[in-house]
Amino acid sequence: MLKILVLNGPNLNLLGKREPGVYGTTTLEQIKEKLGELADLLGAAMEFYQSNHEGQLIDKIHEAVNFDAVVFNPGAFTHYSLALRDAVASVPVPVIEVHLSNIHAREEFRRVSVIAPVSAGQISGLGMQSYLLGFRAACDIGRSHKDKR
Ligand code: DQA
Repeated sequence: MLKILVLNGPNLNLLGKREPGVYGTTTLEQIKEKLGELADLLGAAMEFYQSNHEGQLIDKIHEAVNFDAVVFNPGAFTHYSLALRDAVASVPVPVIEVHLSNIHAREEFRRVSVIAPVSAGQISGLGMQSYLLGFRAACDIGRSHKDKR
């Protein structure tokens, strides 16, 4: 069975209450539920993880070798964590970067992603749809990646 890891970075545990004008009122738990339904539909197994700590996210990315693809919202780490970028580059597993908000339409510092150059692709600005589309892409890319192994 196809195995997809969904990783969430700092402050995403506060979704629903956190800056609702920017991130909406959907909670991380609701995103997890919707992704779970999509995983069932697409015949994939999903692990869903959130951490506010860079090192824990790095450890989890190292575990990604046991998965076929990763959907990753690195939160603010997107914009400056070279350690997370190196972790993504270190694992031979496709990573799809996702963002709820359109990082290219916000403050200057958010327009740069140090994760994007080592990702398979980036989906930004579509709210929960960014995750759902990212998950579909992860299944598709993960499947062809699995076939090649
Ligand atoms: C975010 C965008 C980041 O700039 C921000 O720091 C986040 C959330 C998003 O999903 O839109 O924490 O990754």
